[in-house]
Amino acid sequence: MVEYNWKPEQATKSLNRILPEVEKTFADKLGQAPHEWHKFKNRLHREWERLFIYLHQLYGWQYDFFYTLQRILNTLVQYWLERPAELKLLDEKREAHPDWFLSEKVVGGVLYVDLFSDNLAKLDDHISYFKKLGLNYLHLMPLFAVPKGDNDGGYAVSDYRAINPDIGTMEELFQLAAALREQGISLVLDFVFNHTSDEHIWAQKAKSNHPDFMAYYHTYPDRELPNQFQTYLRDIFPTVRKGNFTWCEEMKRWVWTTFNSFQWDLNYQNPEVFRAMAEEMLFLANQGVEVLRLDAVAFIWKRLGTNCENQPEAHTIIRAFNAMAKIVAPCLLFKSEAIVHPDDVIQYIHPDECQLSYNPLLMALLWEALATRETKLLEYSMRHRYPIPAGCTWVNFIRCHDDIGWTFDDHDARNIGIDPAVHRKFLNKFYTGEHPDSFAKGVPFQFNTDTGDVRISGTFSSLAGLEDAISKQDSELIEQAVRRINLLRSIMVSIGGIPLLYIGDEWGMLNDYSYLSDPTIVNDSRWVHRSRKRWNAREDLTDQDTLEWRFFHEMVKLFDLRKQLPALQNGGMDVIHTGNPHLFGYLRAFKDQKILIINNFSEEPQTMDAVHLYACGVKGDVVNLINNDVLSSGKDLVLNGHQSVWLDIS
Ligand code: GLC
Repeated sequence: MVEYNWKPEQATKSLNRILPEVEKTFADKLGQAPHEWHKFKNRLHREWERLFIYLHQLYGWQYDFFYTLQRILNTLVQYWLERPAELKLLDEKREAHPDWFLSEKVVGGVLYVDLFSDNLAKLDDHISYFKKLGLNYLHLMPLFAVPKGDNDGGYAVSDYRAINPDIGTMEELFQLAAALREQGISLVLDFVFNHTSDEHIWAQKAKSNHPDFMAYYHTYPDRELPNQFQTYLRDIFPTVRKGNFTWCEEMKRWVWTTFNSFQWDLNYQNPEVFRAMAEEMLFLANQGVEVLRLDAVAFIWKRLGTNCENQPEAHTIIRAFNAMAKIVAPCLLFKSEAIVHPDDVIQYIHPDECQLSYNPLLMALLWEALATRETKLLEYSMRHRYPIPAGCTWVNFIRCHDDIGWTFDDHDARNIGIDPAVHRKFLNKFYTGEHPDSFAKGVPFQFNTDTGDVRISGTFSSLAGLEDAISKQDSELIEQAVRRINLLRSIMVSIGGIPLLYIGDEWGMLNDYSYLSDPTIVNDSRWVHRSRKRWNAREDLTDQDTLEWRFFHEMVKLFDLRKQLPALQNGGMDVIHTGNPHLFGYLRAFKDQKILIINNFSEEPQTMDAVHLYACGVKGDVVNLINNDVLSSGKDLVLNGHQSVWLDIS
């Protein structure tokens, strides 16, 4: 017998009960824009059923669930009313072209405002630089009010509605968003929603033992529950603190702190937390943010007896946020930051959840292949782990503000004869420069004395050998490093997904060791790649003699080329058989256009023979779009060391 599904009916019933009350509350304002209100209601009716179902899953067991629904609906209407007219227009534009971000034209950059331009006001002067680079997606690292001193690079937020005064004001952010939009650049910000800083007003009230706010966090009078939870949890920052709980002297209770002790995990079992954070999300959307990077998504729901990562409710919460965004600010997209096992990363990617996702696996495996000069793990993993639901895209990056962790799947590795534990050790040694043949200058991050785990910090260029080569003043080694860098860039730009440039990497930024003399960050080696160093010639793009200029120019060239090739839009990607263990190739296609991309991970020339080429569709003479060289029909393809070719086989 099919079980009766009562939820759709009850969803409608609840809406019919609550909506007239809400309409009364906001009658004055709604009366002024009946046409707009009608459009809002259409979206509300479209999304309400799933929102109701999600909320019921999360909070339906609580006696005052109907009150929760009322509060949420009020929030929706309030933030829609506050939404500026120009953003409502953008909503309509995006609703008419919801797949805009899948376009080959979309290219991203990410930066720290204070490191790049000191503050928001000065960032405005650099919009032309972003345009020269070809960016139309700009992610500003967290810039909200934070505690002085160590604040985890902005990820300990004290107030989501205030900008760190050293960086600027919310008004300036709003203006900047508008200025960027004007230039066709979408603003991306973080939504740090797993935790707040312990200086957030909610945490302060909790510290004064206000029960409503203590319920915003996970707090415990003694070690009984923390000990039970702890058995299953991993340490994210083991060098900072063992365990996931911090004693709060004011409250005389233990607080759940997955990351640093000053980052208090929010308690999403409390519907008030869900609603309050939904308001912060919609507030940011109303400032003109088009994509929110959902920070630390994996950790937002706790369940005893599990590792408290990737719980089903984490997905339900994001989907509920997604439904709310679709009603109030439909142009808003979510990008998941799930730096977890690849099987779990993929679970967050869905049009109803996160339409965008970081691709930590590709990033890690590109570095893996660069070290080993072999592509089998990259090839094997990408073949079955690249596909994601239609209407979604990867965000591909080589470096970001965080460390590199070797997140490949152990079974994948074993299936192709690699011992995962031994391999991770090798990679760590390689990238920290301990391995005798290493070209990399990485710095260990969060060495765990219990497990021996460690992750890697360092800039793109330093990890790819440029720092070492420059220090040796060896021009051949410098050229090799340049080729490695261009190889990884070429893949990031062509494999499918939004390429995301960590600003500074466009000109070859090296490690910056000055963090070692700053006591607030000395223990966080990620600051080695969060540098204040700037490229003085950044605005003078004619200075052709410098390495910086070459890097910049190559980057722009690749972005430009990508934008001319519809086959490179963010859709399918087929890994091909190259017949050579050092080559990694894939086919990108759209309508009549087909591009075969082949990358050589070795320093030595490598051949893909004519038989394999033929099997991939190389039938006549074909052009390498990167340098216009022609590969004659029936010939083997010989790639130079670290060369990447984009063959037009349409
Ligand atoms: C994310 C950020 C990282 C931060 C952590 C805690 O992983 O990328 O920089 O330390 O969340 O907020």
